[in-house]
Amino acid sequence: MSNTKYRSEITGVGSFVPPKVYTNFDLEKMMETTNDWIVQRTGIEQRHWVDDNVSNSDLAFEASVRAIKNAGLERSDIDMIIFATLSPDHEFPGTGCFLQAKLELPEIAVLDIRQQCTGFLYGLSIADKFIQSGSNKNILVVGSEVHSKGLDKTPNGRNVAVLFGDGAGAVVVSRKELVNPATDSRIITTHLHADGSFAKELWIPAPGTALGADRINNEMIAEGMHYPQMNGKTVFVHATKRMAECLVSACKEANVTFTDVDLFLFHQANLRINSKVAEMLSIPEEKIFNTIQNYGNTTAATIPLGMDDAIKAGVLKKGMLVASAAFGSGFTWASAVWRY
Ligand code: UT7
Repeated sequence: MSNTKYRSEITGVGSFVPPKVYTNFDLEKMMETTNDWIVQRTGIEQRHWVDDNVSNSDLAFEASVRAIKNAGLERSDIDMIIFATLSPDHEFPGTGCFLQAKLELPEIAVLDIRQQCTGFLYGLSIADKFIQSGSNKNILVVGSEVHSKGLDKTPNGRNVAVLFGDGAGAVVVSRKELVNPATDSRIITTHLHADGSFAKELWIPAPGTALGADRINNEMIAEGMHYPQMNGKTVFVHATKRMAECLVSACKEANVTFTDVDLFLFHQANLRINSKVAEMLSIPEEKIFNTIQNYGNTTAATIPLGMDDAIKAGVLKKGMLVASAAFGSGFTWASAVWRY
């Protein structure tokens, strides 16, 4: 929690999804799956996937421009970019560099982070620390993903391919004077966790320098090692447990109860995960804003995308107390409580 004279306020939110929608019925034609299976197991009804010529940083650019505009700022007011993704434009440099060039913001710091579904909350936490230290004034935190180009869309990959969608979300975190900690719009607390002993429960093995002589070769491609691999049941069990745990610790640290929280913005990997967390913590379902039906799992983009949709729907209003939690590959998990 803050001991400084500054507070970090989310002053602008923006998002962008590619226009092309793929329903579960479209996927039925590509792989051996059914609308019923996908809806019953996950809650997903459709996802947006990019056209061939669209990159991750293209989506991030659109979301960023909207977030900066909604913050009432000029692009030149941004003094740092924190970029969370697991589906970069290229192996290196980080996609934040490509976004920085598109935004025409030369020389400002760019930090790419790799915390998968938890990436946005990690980014928000880092931004909060830089803002509270006094070193930065307006940090752009972006979560953006192009999953569709990296999924096995044959029947072999159906357990993963039906889950993921493309999209981007961005927020501007701005430095403000701390006046009244109880009522100021600000990031109140963030909690970050990881357990690398589960790294291979949800991962993409190749390309990788741990694989022998080559980072990638034809054999690895033939084996599908460049596609995501997931032990869904293990991930599910840990996701519910860890999201519930870190929500409890965040609310305790913020000195608020679940009743005080106006809105819960959770990561969107599976509606059943979010319902289970709600059940474990006796959170009324109507306080949770879910978007997975429309987008599938957009990993790092999910929470800022949901934030923007909640604002547009009139569900998230200035002054509301919000709690977020996310869980994903790594395993990584995180929570945050903030007043919007
Ligand atoms: O954001 C990152 C974190 N990711 C997650 O949190 C995901 C967590 N895990 C999950 O959400 C669930 O485990 C899944 C939705 C991925 C899968 O649900 P499940 O109830 O664990 O299903 P399962 O993997 O045990 O598969 C059940 C059956 C299998 O058939 P058999 O062996 O029972 O005959 C699968 O082959 O469903 C079959 N199946 C499918 N059927 C139709 C797997 N994928 C599909 C599919 N369409 N797409």
